[in-house]
Amino acid sequence: MKISNIALIGFMGVGKSMVGSRLAQLLKKRVISTDNLIEKRERRSIAEIFRDSGEPYFRKLEKAVVQEISQEEDVIIDCGGGVPLDAGNMERLKRNFTVVYLRASAEFIFENLKRTKKRPLLDVPDPQAKIKELLEKREPFYREADIVLDTNNKSIEQISEDILKILNRPE
Ligand code: S3P
Repeated sequence: MKISNIALIGFMGVGKSMVGSRLAQLLKKRVISTDNLIEKRERRSIAEIFRDSGEPYFRKLEKAVVQEISQEEDVIIDCGGGVPLDAGNMERLKRNFTVVYLRASAEFIFENLKRTKKRPLLDVPDPQAKIKELLEKREPFYREADIVLDTNNKSIEQISEDILKILNRPE
C-alpha cells in the first residue's frame, strides 16, 4: 500500500487531527487539514461559515479544497468528517491516497465531543442522538476506505502505530 500519501477519514471527534499530526511527525511529512485550510482562506471559523453562509456553501469550499490537495504528494490529509459523503471527493482521494477510516462508537465520540462547541452539526438539543443518527447514515460512505481501523479506547500513539503496521505489511 502507498505509505507516501495517507488520507484520514471518519466521524468528528475520533482523533483524525491528532493522529494526522503524529503520523506526520513519525513519517516526516506535512499534514494538511481540510478544515484548517478552509478557515484560513475564509478568515473565519467553521462555525461562523455554517452560521453565516450555510452548510451547502461550506461543502462547496470543502470540495474545492479536496480537489486541490488530492493532487499533492507526500502528505497526510486530515479530512473533515463530511468529506467522504461526496462521491467525487472520495474518488479523488482514493486515486492518490491510502484512505484510512478511523472508526469509533457513538458513545466514544460523544465522550470526546461533549465539551466542545466547535461542531455546528452537533449544536442541537440532543447531540448524542444526532451522533448516532449521522454515524449510521455515514458508515457506508466511510467504509469505502482502503483500511478500516477500530479506534475505541485506543491512544493516539496506538492508533498511529497500528496504521503504520498495516501500511508496512507486505501485500
Ligand atoms: C463535519 C466535520 C467537521 C467540520 C464540519 C462538518 C461533518 O470536521 O468539517 O464541522 O460534517 O462531519 P471534523 O471531522 O474534523 O470535526
